[in-house]
Amino acid sequence: FLDVRKLQPTTGMCTFDPGFTSTGACQSQITFIDGKEGVLVYRGYSIDDLAEKGDFTDATYLLLHGELPTNSQREKFEFELTHHSLVHEQLIKFFQGFKHDAHPMAIMVGVVGALAAFYSDSADIGNPAERMRSCLRLIAKMPTLAAIAYKTSIGQPIVYPRNDLSYSENFLHMLFSVPSEKYVMDPELARAMEIILVLHMDHEQNASTSTVRTAGSSQANPFACIASGIAALWGPAHGGANEAVLRMLEVIGHVENIPDALERAKDKNDPFRLMGFGHRVYKTYDPRAKIMRSVCHRVLKAAKKENDPLLKIALELENIATSDEYFIKRGLYPNVDFYSGITLRAMGIPVSMYTVLFAVARTVGWVSQWKEMAEDPVPRISRPRQMYLGSMKRNFVDVESRC
Ligand code: ACO
Repeated sequence: FLDVRKLQPTTGMCTFDPGFTSTGACQSQITFIDGKEGVLVYRGYSIDDLAEKGDFTDATYLLLHGELPTNSQREKFEFELTHHSLVHEQLIKFFQGFKHDAHPMAIMVGVVGALAAFYSDSADIGNPAERMRSCLRLIAKMPTLAAIAYKTSIGQPIVYPRNDLSYSENFLHMLFSVPSEKYVMDPELARAMEIILVLHMDHEQNASTSTVRTAGSSQANPFACIASGIAALWGPAHGGANEAVLRMLEVIGHVENIPDALERAKDKNDPFRLMGFGHRVYKTYDPRAKIMRSVCHRVLKAAKKENDPLLKIALELENIATSDEYFIKRGLYPNVDFYSGITLRAMGIPVSMYTVLFAVARTVGWVSQWKEMAEDPVPRISRPRQMYLGSMKRNFVDVESRC
């Protein structure tokens, strides 16, 4: 039991739970995960069904509104997302202020937060219509901002969204269209993008989502809250993992080197970890990883990159690690990031954009969770306690007497 001086409860019992491994911070009706069985559902619908039979519109509407949309609701929703996809011309000037080689995630943290300066109505978070408008604006503008960040970083002119394209198609169009040639959309890649977005949309109280909720609990502006989520997502232990997986596979370099890599991952004195392996909640195969693996095969086939040496290493690494006692005992299996890097690379998405793409998808979950929290009739600011390990009482020493 803890020294009460160090962890003083304000009311009732107080728990010490670093990393929040066993603390429920909110009630939610959005996403359910069964980490033992490897199950993920959005509002009761399995991720497999949504990825295979649904699309971006279905999953986004479902997370935001709680139900799958009818045909007319789909049409209206798609119109609204298209309608909000442009960003203010003044905001576009922000991009020129960043250093040319800035990481697009650094840019995203800044420009998404800056949206608050453009939409003063978004501060009225007590108004349900304004809340929904902020959610739609964020979902609709994220691919536009992400694509501008990319185009700026490579010195190409920015590409505006088109009203005749779907959300995923528009994202690809804004990333890859160049003025000198017509961009030909590969339907297989557009479908893959759609599935990747659906798989990454929400994952209950992960680090970035709980950051959004913590920021939102102070009734901060929704654009600022989402910017905080982007910052939390950036790290390699969270959304930055797919980028790290690719780098790891490149370092491994050949299937022959896999056993050495596994030994390094087991060594507690070595900081090396198997990136794309392990999850705080899943202690079995991440259900998203299974879908991602099959998308990976399809994309590589469509892009005629089936012989990608990194895929060979990844498949073999998965094979060996999932039958290794160390990984089995700790419930370490591939997570969604394990195959997403290889897939995105085959789609022509640059590595620096992987986490940005994740942020585009996760915005749907962030705003849904933010909206759910804002609708709570009894809002409470997030305010964890700490276990104080410092001195309790010291006498002040004048500067002349300090040594
Ligand atoms: N490689 C080797 N060993 C690992 C790995 C790994 N990737 N992940 C966990 N372990 C080991 C730990 O060393 C520890 O071993 P021990 O019990 O002998 O001390 C045990 O497994 C438990 O690990 P924890 O760090 O306590 O697990 P935690 O739940 O805190 O971490 C995390 C989860 C951060 C995802 C971790 O597994 C990891 O760093 N994985 C690699 C990064 C990654 O893929 N992140 C993406 C997560 S999914 C997402 O954000 C979309």
